[in-house]
Amino acid sequence: MPNKKLRPQKRRRRSIIAFEMVRLDRTAKEPLHEQLYRQIRDELKAGRLSDGSSRVPSSRALAVDRGISRSTVRLALSKLHAEGYLRSKPGSGTFVATLLPESFLTADQPKGYQPIQRPARISDRAKAIPDGRVGNQFDLGATGAGPGVSLVASIPAVDEFPIAIWERLRAQVLTKKGVNLLRYSSNRGDIDLRKAFAAYLCDFRAARCHPDQIVIVAGMQQAMLISAMAVLNPGETAWIEDPCYQQTRRVLTLAGVKIIPKPIDEHGIVIARSRKEPLPRMIYVTPSHQFPLGVTMSFQRRTELLDFARAHNTFIFEDDYDAEFRFVGPPLPSLQGIDNANRVIYAGTVSKILCPSLRLGYIVAPEQLIDSFVKIRSAMDQHSSPIEQATLARFITEGFFLSHIKRMRKFYAERRDFFIKQFNELLGDHFTLQVPEAGLNIVAWLKREEDFQMIKRITSEIGVRPSALSFFCIQAKLKPAFVFGFAAWTLTQIRESLVKLASALELR
Ligand SMILES: Cc1ncc(COP(=O)(O)O)c(C=O)c1O
Repeated sequence: MPNKKLRPQKRRRRSIIAFEMVRLDRTAKEPLHEQLYRQIRDELKAGRLSDGSSRVPSSRALAVDRGISRSTVRLALSKLHAEGYLRSKPGSGTFVATLLPESFLTADQPKGYQPIQRPARISDRAKAIPDGRVGNQFDLGATGAGPGVSLVASIPAVDEFPIAIWERLRAQVLTKKGVNLLRYSSNRGDIDLRKAFAAYLCDFRAARCHPDQIVIVAGMQQAMLISAMAVLNPGETAWIEDPCYQQTRRVLTLAGVKIIPKPIDEHGIVIARSRKEPLPRMIYVTPSHQFPLGVTMSFQRRTELLDFARAHNTFIFEDDYDAEFRFVGPPLPSLQGIDNANRVIYAGTVSKILCPSLRLGYIVAPEQLIDSFVKIRSAMDQHSSPIEQATLARFITEGFFLSHIKRMRKFYAERRDFFIKQFNELLGDHFTLQVPEAGLNIVAWLKREEDFQMIKRITSEIGVRPSALSFFCIQAKLKPAFVFGFAAWTLTQIRESLVKLASALELR
């Protein structure tokens, strides 16, 4: 006899419907099974439960739950079965039918139901967000990259994320801290994580900060939103880079900020302004590696920017989203590290280093802003998951963070070199690559501007999906180009994608 204990236990799948709204009246003339049948049928007809994957409780469970006999429940359920409201899946249970009888018999439409014809009144705030997506387009997230598409900009190699280590550390912190990780927690963020980030940033980015200046946030976007809400009143001005990360524009619009796009030259953001132009209260920049052009802000422009901020009582928002991935030359220190006047709001994210789904990042706040930032975070969503924060703290303090960065830098360098070589060989007749010193994207300028629409169409048809540079432009009139990502695909996939694009361009 095989040992029963060793046999894998078949897990009983539980019902996901409870029929909580059913009310049975024992004093009514209508029999209980009729009441049960009618009320369940009405709930199903109302369309609240009809998605075909809704499991119905067993007759035993329903009988116990409602305090009635099993035969009463069976009578009601068998009638619903017979009329096509329920269907059985052998071995799995009873489910709501995918197509209810009402789909065929529309004569029985409940009276008085009028679909709403008037468009909903939407706030100006929501309408102003420059985002043309609708419906399931949001399911692909802000990058718009669905499965099977390649060479999309800004996507890290998430399949290299050390899941086993993460899971082990997560289990360890849960065992150690237990229910403390299940409560509401600090609005500033986990203290161990703040300490770990402070040490990392001072060492790695030459930042000057202590753990109490750090606010843990749900990624760079939230860092921008909190900062904009803390330092700008609605209608006040922020400068942003043009072209710019599309989410920056959306976030600052959401904060009610007046955006002034500033061009980029070979040193970084252009600071010059006309006398009529209002002074900015905040300047958003990506100095380590401008998104999407890839320019590293020169030392001269950094000091000019800091001087400007000091002279005009302006804050600089430094988005250091992928400073870790620098492939050429020594890293420049962060702006925050050379700021002597508390003008820089420095923010980072683990979206590129680890993975974007963690939604974790940090702000290093100038002392005078810390409490306002935390107050806004508290009013917004209180804090990020304490479990993930504690796991990340441990991941950093046990050395996994640094070793992952080192490993990924080597790994990306190999993909980058391969991409550049293959691209020039296969597509050199169509594009000129502008190779940046850092980052996970590369801009490819068209050799023949008139090819732009044709290449845009082809890339969307064949699933090799660089972004058109114009997508990131606000007023900038740049020559046509595409922004390619290389980081998330293997050498074979990079080669296949480039061959596919080159062949499609030959055949057009
Ligand atoms: C310029 C820039 N900042 C920040 C991010 C990432 O932000 P988050 O932390 O919200 O994922 C990206 C992602 O592509 C980016 O391009």
